[in-house]
Amino acid sequence: MAVQYYEKQRIFKLDTQHTSYIMAVVDKENFLGHVYYGGRLEDYDLTYLLRLGEKPFVPSENNRERCSFMDSFPAEYAGHGLGDYRDGCISVRTKGGHSAINLTVVSHEIYGGKKRLEGLPATFGTEQECSTLEIHCEDAVLGLQVTLMYTVFEDVDAITRSVKVTNEAKEEIYLTKVLSACLDMDNREFERITLHGSWARERHIQRQPIGYGKYAVSSLRGEPGHQEHPFMALAVRGTTQDVGEVYAMNFVYSGNFLAQEEMSQFGSVRMSMGINPEDFCWRLDPQESFQAPEVVLVYSAEGLGGMTRSFHDLYRKHLIRSPYRDKKRPVLINNWEATYFEFDTDKLIGIAKQAAELGIEMLVMDDGWFGKRNFDDCALGDWQVNEEKLKGGLKYLVDEVNKLGMKFGIWFEPEMISPDSELYRAHPDWAFQIPGRTPGMSREQYVLDLSRKEVRDYIYECVAKILHSANIEYVKWDMNRSLCDIGSIGFPADRQGELYHRYVLAVYEMQERLITDFPQLLLENCSGGGARFDPGMLYYSPQIWCSDDADAVERLMIQEGTSLIYPLSTMGAHVSDCPNHVVGRVTPFETRGYVALAGTFGYELDVTRISEEDRNMIPEQVAMYHKYNDLVREGDYYRLASYGENHCYDCYEVVSKDKKEALVTYIQVLNIPNCHSRRIYLRGLEAAAEYKVEGMEGVYRGETLMKAGIQVEILAGDFRGKLISVKRSSKAS
Ligand code: GLA
Repeated sequence: MAVQYYEKQRIFKLDTQHTSYIMAVVDKENFLGHVYYGGRLEDYDLTYLLRLGEKPFVPSENNRERCSFMDSFPAEYAGHGLGDYRDGCISVRTKGGHSAINLTVVSHEIYGGKKRLEGLPATFGTEQECSTLEIHCEDAVLGLQVTLMYTVFEDVDAITRSVKVTNEAKEEIYLTKVLSACLDMDNREFERITLHGSWARERHIQRQPIGYGKYAVSSLRGEPGHQEHPFMALAVRGTTQDVGEVYAMNFVYSGNFLAQEEMSQFGSVRMSMGINPEDFCWRLDPQESFQAPEVVLVYSAEGLGGMTRSFHDLYRKHLIRSPYRDKKRPVLINNWEATYFEFDTDKLIGIAKQAAELGIEMLVMDDGWFGKRNFDDCALGDWQVNEEKLKGGLKYLVDEVNKLGMKFGIWFEPEMISPDSELYRAHPDWAFQIPGRTPGMSREQYVLDLSRKEVRDYIYECVAKILHSANIEYVKWDMNRSLCDIGSIGFPADRQGELYHRYVLAVYEMQERLITDFPQLLLENCSGGGARFDPGMLYYSPQIWCSDDADAVERLMIQEGTSLIYPLSTMGAHVSDCPNHVVGRVTPFETRGYVALAGTFGYELDVTRISEEDRNMIPEQVAMYHKYNDLVREGDYYRLASYGENHCYDCYEVVSKDKKEALVTYIQVLNIPNCHSRRIYLRGLEAAAEYKVEGMEGVYRGETLMKAGIQVEILAGDFRGKLISVKRSSKAS
């Protein structure tokens, strides 16, 4: 059983295949202490780790030092304002104006499977796949019930946590902070790993030793943003891809978040994650509940690689729901970088004809097909086809594309409104705004107040009408600015602090409606590239556009950071135009193909205007995609070398689950004069099995390829790459 309660000792133990997580209820006051998280253990009573025999003693025995106790106790879900001076997980504002809260355990339940989190994306599993523990806590003074939920996914070594708060009192209470998880641990010379970036360079990895005090990454943009990411890991110093211990948290949420690590005076470390408490204030009326989103916890004793593979498996098996999850996605061509706003039916059909001949399977019409949208300064919200551009209408275009044997996809930006739009002229109050202030624009647009049902229903119906009007099989759902000027006429003054979260819930509701009404649709999320690439969105779409920067070199670091957590099958990646539209770099077409192969694969260029040499490479690349995509989508991912670290070359490998096949991608960013071939140590093979490596004579045992490695020749020139296929030799298999 993955969840155990030892009644006598009042201990909870959660076990995955390789990890254990232990909590204990202590003292007469029923505090919940975090005892242990790490490699799997058989023993369960490790309460000596709580230091209860040391001063300061538990309060009921000696209330004299209650505050000292609270301030050093490793709390499972820390309260606020009652002596624990570290940042807590929850705080409130009562009618009397107080903020303090302390939670103690009342009861618990254990059951197989997992309940859905109302209105929120979350991992799922059957009774055979996961088990859940709910610990019911209370603050009797406030009349608040707080349920801590833990689900154990044994096979993938992951535990998810979330929190539900219910108001059992007679009057309303305001929740000003409800994080979803915290982990109190002793410091083990931890190094913190976080992901940072900007537009066009999302999710670069940053690693730093921790120190006393607090370090946070967060967002107040209404989405995670390009800048920070709802992920934090603490790795024991020296942890590599293959060895060492790491604790990681990732937030299944697409709005304002906080991920924080705090080292106390005693060298204990509290890592916590949840909705950003800044600008959050949720009014909870009597008998109402608030469900906080879910945090995924992964512990790996097999280095960062082990952590990565747990996240990948969890998300592929227990988070993504799309019918495309386990399928090849159609190789698409998107017209954004090919035409920007300058296209019409003939131009698109011209691109589609050429693309179809080359084996491309879907045309995606990007921004600019609706209203009078001929530039990015107008018409968002006017979701009617511009028939001056699309002569004959949308259905005609889609039918023509279908006749070529291609699918058709379309772009929307449903959450936005241009001040210069019919929609805004009719409903100026539909944009978020604060009375007396002119809302700030970004990309000349405002954000729709989706917290109001009439607004989101109207927009959803516009989107659905377009989708019903023709055979549209793919939608790119874009979101091109962060939120600000948050104010809504739909809610009273004391509920304005709910708007950021209500906005995210609205986006979830709209996307849930979309995939319910159009169950076969391939949905790709996007936000100015990869500003909303998070597990929350993966619940609705199996893929997310990774970055507006598709330069082969820039993508190496973006994709390395992204794939640290997210499966390759989720990373929108295309071969784009050259010189690259963001950095102006010229890279070989071939290399752009190798890099895009690590994601969903497609094209973002005018196939009628590229050189014949490049064009001729497309059928080969499409064939390469078909040959390797099952492996790339479903295999185990190993990072063998990082361009971000060595500034010279990049190398990663995907190994099939049955270990019969592997694919190594090697990208030499810069050539080095007078240099030997490079040694690359393969990973994940079966030690005793024999393998044939593409380009090498003979067969070698997996252990040889992993321990002794292979030699990869230095390629002539910069920005070059190659794929190396590794196959179990048929004699041995
Ligand atoms: C965003 C997306 C791009 C493209 C444009 C269209 O920037 O990331 O791929 O769709 O919007 O305006």
